[in-house]
Amino acid sequence: MSAKITWYGHAALSLETGGYRLLVDPFLSDNPSAAASPEKIMADYILVSHGHGDHVGDAVEIARRLGIMVISNNEIAGWFKKKNVDAHGQHIGGGYRHPFGYLKLTMAVHGSCLPDGSDGGNPAGFLLSTNQGEKIYIAGDTGLFGDMRLIGEEGIDLAVLPIGDNYTMGPDDALRAVKLLTPRHAIPIHYNTWDLIAQDPHAWAKRVSAETQTIVHVLKPGESFEL
Ligand code: NI
Ligand code: MN
Repeated sequence: MSAKITWYGHAALSLETGGYRLLVDPFLSDNPSAAASPEKIMADYILVSHGHGDHVGDAVEIARRLGIMVISNNEIAGWFKKKNVDAHGQHIGGGYRHPFGYLKLTMAVHGSCLPDGSDGGNPAGFLLSTNQGEKIYIAGDTGLFGDMRLIGEEGIDLAVLPIGDNYTMGPDDALRAVKLLTPRHAIPIHYNTWDLIAQDPHAWAKRVSAETQTIVHVLKPGESFEL
């Protein structure tokens, strides 16, 4: 059993599982904290959680360069197809068995308008059951919602949660999210990209370890955690 998560800053991360590389929300060229370049990054699939520019990022260019598929909600998948990018559309609560595992879109409380003003459908998070048996929950941009408890019932090995506040959960609500999800491990993201979402992830990690059983892994952009 092993899955490797590398954080590239903001919400961009890569998930390596069973020989597949999944690139999530690849906002790199305009990301002041980016630890990877869109011209060089490698991936087998791209996952886009919602339509905002800081998540769609360089997905079109990377998908074209590598000739790989984008997975997102149906509206965003259609937007990529119009740009001649191969795409697979799903929707909230719907799962599909991809070669790398069973991927379900989860609800996220947020917006999803695409950078050109197109309708980006509903924002989502991702719940991945890998072929090796890990459950990884990437919340996407979201506020706290009580149904995180239902997601937690599936038995989460790793939860990737925004803590930046202003646009998403801040540290207080992200701590409550951990209590609902009860993941074995958690990684905070979507903070310190700009002053508006400046947070101290180590202070948050201390609170989580004082109040829950979850182990927090604070990564610097470019660093990895192996599950
Ligand atoms: Ni957003
Ligand atoms: Mn965002």
